[in-house]
Amino acid sequence: MTDLLIDTSAGVMTITLNRVSKKNAFTQAMYAAMADALQQAQADAQFRALVFQGHETIFSAGNDIGDFLHAQAATQDSPVFRFLRAVSTFSKPIVAAVCGPAVGIGTTMLFHCDLVYAGDNAAFSMPFVNLGLCPEAASSYLAPQLMGYGRAAEALLLGEPFLAESALEMGLISRIVPPSEANALAQRQARKLAAKPLSALIETKRLMKKGQASMVAERMVEEGASFGRLLREPAAREAFTAFMEKRKPNFSKT
Ligand code: COA
Repeated sequence: MTDLLIDTSAGVMTITLNRVSKKNAFTQAMYAAMADALQQAQADAQFRALVFQGHETIFSAGNDIGDFLHAQAATQDSPVFRFLRAVSTFSKPIVAAVCGPAVGIGTTMLFHCDLVYAGDNAAFSMPFVNLGLCPEAASSYLAPQLMGYGRAAEALLLGEPFLAESALEMGLISRIVPPSEANALAQRQARKLAAKPLSALIETKRLMKKGQASMVAERMVEEGASFGRLLREPAAREAFTAFMEKRKPNFSKT
């Protein structure tokens, strides 16, 4: 799998999104490999922190739209749900470096990361509605909590992007850096974490997330059912076909 590079050193597992020619859009195979890697890092005591990183110019364009077009009804055992469950329940610290566009799950997965370092070129967006879809990864719950309802509505109903400054102000990210420095900073911070006592890290993260854990799990299941239904409706089919044909979607008949 060259679309995803997995490096393990100094107690840190680093997952690099490496499908740059397709803007790091996630395929089913990439979700499956990320879910497997997270499960391995969760179970193996040698791993004490995890890093997600992309390229200086792109974090991820979200789910592969061609995959959406040909998707079978996803079950809770499908790669995407396995990944979402693994990332949202991962008990050790997750660090992310995000530069360029972070679309769809490229943004919503960050709600489940602990330290996010963004390049000053980062642009976050959750344009699910524009694709005839609804939020996932519990973002319908976590975005209003973090951003306040008004800004979450702009992000989730209008699908409008927001930039690194706003993401910093709302607490989605920890720091803004030049894009060329984001991956190295994430790695340094992860290694600092990996040198700390693991049980104290796990307990601290658990306590910080305790208030939302069951709500997140419950919301992800509800979102998943709605997402699966909307995926097969005419609006989504039109949005995906339009993207593949490089034209604007026409929702007038949907
Ligand atoms: N799924 C599949 N392919 C994708 C993709 C996606 N989500 N995002 C980009 N690509 C592909 C493009 O089709 C293009 O392929 P091609 O070179 O074979 O034509 C290639 O990646 C480059 O994309 P392009 O759109 O030309 O790059 P850009 O720099 O102009 O724009 C984005 C970058 C991320 C803003 C833009 O690609 C985009 O909006 N992508 C879709 C995002 C989206 O709606 N994702 C789903 C969220 S739920």
